[in-house]
Amino acid sequence: MEKSREYVIVAEDLWMTLEGKQVLKGVDLRVESGEALVILGRSGAGKSVLLQCIIGLMTPDSGRIIVDGMEVTAFTTEKEWKKLWMKVGFLFQGGALFDSMTLSENIAFPILKHTGITEKRALDCTEELLSLVGLEGEGKKLPSELSGGMQKRASLARTLALGPSIVLYDEPTSGLDPVTSDSISRLIKDLNRQGGNTSIIVTHDIRLAFQIADHIAMLEDGKVIMAGTPEEFRRSEMEHVSRFIYGSEQPVAGREG
Ligand SMILES: Nc1ncnc2c1ncn2[C@@H]1O[C@H](COP(=O)(O)OP(=O)(O)O)[C@@H](O)[C@H]1O
Ligand SMILES: [Mg+2]
Repeated sequence: MEKSREYVIVAEDLWMTLEGKQVLKGVDLRVESGEALVILGRSGAGKSVLLQCIIGLMTPDSGRIIVDGMEVTAFTTEKEWKKLWMKVGFLFQGGALFDSMTLSENIAFPILKHTGITEKRALDCTEELLSLVGLEGEGKKLPSELSGGMQKRASLARTLALGPSIVLYDEPTSGLDPVTSDSISRLIKDLNRQGGNTSIIVTHDIRLAFQIADHIAMLEDGKVIMAGTPEEFRRSEMEHVSRFIYGSEQPVAGREG
């Protein structure tokens, strides 16, 4: 058995400036194969920017990112990105569905875009994906006919459509009530455990973090100030960490970023 840890995502010394502001200031991150890593931090800490650098929607000023053995910061062609995007599912903050398409059409969209199969076959695949997220039989509905939690589930099904081995979630529970939020959190954990994918979950939600994390990395002011297990976080005496976990530093509702 291979003893050394296998890292699926590695970020080394990432620096990023946006509109003259230093947003990432030397971020280091390691994500083990098959784990759920939560990136915790308050609004404006740089969490979404970090995820977007990993997926290639933003390019850091310096530093290295390696995903599944590919050095994405050295990519030079669209073809390389396309190869990566086939492996990585991304649930955007907000997770917007196309309003004018039914759930099935929304979920079939990436399948039709990236594979050669017929529309009929793609729509057949969507049934399985809908049941995976607990929305069996709802495929003909429009997003506007669904609750916030159901829309999140449908976005998740679309994210999973191409069978990604890596899934990145940006604030998957923001805007949801605690009960719905817990059910999404269980779903993410089940998909990670049973689906065997490697997941990064970005959130400012401490409850979510402790529900699903194998490891947590805390981002503060553009740096990872602590990385460890949930237990290590609970016991941490670092001021920023314990204040975030136990104190009054929770982001104000409605201001989540
Ligand atoms: N596209 C952008 N252009 C300019 N500044 C941005 C952009 N995206 C994010 N920022 C800034 O970068 C900082 C970190 O943002 P972000 O990563 O979205 O934080 P969060 O941790 O809340 O997800 C914030 O100060 C934000 O205003
Ligand atoms: Mg964000």
